[in-house]
Amino acid sequence: MRVKFPQTAYILGAFVVCVLVYFFFSQKTHETNVLSAHFFDQSAPQGYFLAERKSVVQQQNFVPMVIPLKRNSSFDYKAAMKELNDARVPMDDPRLIQIIRDYYLDPPSQEPYTLENPGRLEYSNGQTPFVDSRLNYIEGGFYVEAGALNGEKGSNTLFFEKVRKWNGLLVEADPDNYAVLKTKHRKAFTINACLSTKKYPNMVTFNKGFNRGRIYDNKEAIDWVNREKNLPVNTIQAQCFPLYSILLALGQTTVDFFSLDIEGDEMHVLETIPFDKLNIKMMTVEFVHGANGEETLRSVVESKGYESLLKVQRWDGGVNDIIFRKKGLIH
Ligand SMILES: *[C@@H]1O[C@H](CO)[C@@H](O)[C@H](O)[C@H]1NC(C)=O
Repeated sequence: MRVKFPQTAYILGAFVVCVLVYFFFSQKTHETNVLSAHFFDQSAPQGYFLAERKSVVQQQNFVPMVIPLKRNSSFDYKAAMKELNDARVPMDDPRLIQIIRDYYLDPPSQEPYTLENPGRLEYSNGQTPFVDSRLNYIEGGFYVEAGALNGEKGSNTLFFEKVRKWNGLLVEADPDNYAVLKTKHRKAFTINACLSTKKYPNMVTFNKGFNRGRIYDNKEAIDWVNREKNLPVNTIQAQCFPLYSILLALGQTTVDFFSLDIEGDEMHVLETIPFDKLNIKMMTVEFVHGANGEETLRSVVESKGYESLLKVQRWDGGVNDIIFRKKGLIH
């Protein structure tokens, strides 16, 4: 017995070490792959969930919305826009709406997708399935995504277009990203512009930077760019439009899902939105930037009649979003 006891102890000890090592590594890989999700609201989603809609998880065909564009090649729309910028015209000025519709909006592509990952359904780090379920898997909705980046990487809206046959609007200010976005042949309206942080159109200095591009015209933005690692200053002049103006140009005042991730000006853009004139059902908004970013964002959006549903964060800090839904939404 005195000889056997240490042997058993060795075997037991080795077993315990193996279990610990296994758990350590499984936890580690778990952490690096998974988003942390914090539910603010544990209540069940409202409405009736139709099983057949839930099960439609393959790519669908649909004919995107068409609006007539009347481009006149001899009309100097940039000079006309400069006058409207200088005059700080209101968001619903008919001349502004007309110029956006005819000269800035690009129509949805009629060609097949050319995506890097064509077979994929979910590009969004897990946000779209959540939003999809909370909107009762509706088909034919309308989304807005700003910044749209290259139209595929991390896209919060491609699922709705491919699977749920939604029309939409992609907003991307960086001309390099926009050029790549156009090659993907998204079935959405696109606009190479920024969302205005003011209730009028304006020209701004914009610092390019792939997924870290942002308006670069105030101290907070300049400090932020200086603090970011490996982010050179590489600016352009960009035309910004209020979101409301672009939606009026499209004749679209209902937005089922609005994804707002513009590296710092989210709050300013939200302040321009007339929530009484637009019906925006769900939103995901990046919150990390600024002091008390999360609390400020939640209190402002909740004061506009929304409830915070979910906070989504990725281990590397690349995703920091809060998902909101309009209170009393019935499907
Ligand atoms: C096109 O624009 C030019 C310059 O503004 C204008 O003179 C002309 O009448 C316009 N043509 C049409 C068909 O609107």
